[in-house]
Amino acid sequence: MKQSTFMIFKPDSIEGNHVQPIIERIFNAGLEISHFKAVIATPELIEQHYAHIADKPFFKAIEDFMVKGPLYIAILTGEDAVNTWRGLMGATNPEAAEQGTIRGDFGYVKNGQVFNMVHGSDSTDNAKREIELWYGKDVTID
Ligand code: CDP
Ligand code: MG
Repeated sequence: MKQSTFMIFKPDSIEGNHVQPIIERIFNAGLEISHFKAVIATPELIEQHYAHIADKPFFKAIEDFMVKGPLYIAILTGEDAVNTWRGLMGATNPEAAEQGTIRGDFGYVKNGQVFNMVHGSDSTDNAKREIELWYGKDVTID
């Protein structure tokens, strides 16, 4: 089913010059990219986005990392977009992510902190929630 999902290029993908190869993978998977823009996030926005992990011990480091520079955000649309994008991303922990996935190929763990390059919504409900959070009510998906 054609659907949309929300993605973030985290600062590690931008600093590591991985944006272009990641975009190539997105196109090669048949997904369209729209609403691409650079954003400087506030701690409040990151806390809302990552509400499900905001009470974890590692959260402060993630928050600091996500607000330290620009992020690129985008909407991906295509067949089964949520799962297609999650498949391209690979597992959360780069050390567990398979080779051939974005996190497996570009991600790493340093001083116990996970650097996994990209975000992707994990369900259509969360895609809707995250798109409204990052773009406001003017941008809606089906
Ligand atoms: O990003 P994903 O949906 O795969 O994972 P999550 O469980 O929703 O966690 C969100 C983010 O928190 C991850 O992408 C990591 O950046 C971070 N995280 C971490 O550093 N260590 C963990 N044990 C779990 C999550
Ligand atoms: Mg998640």
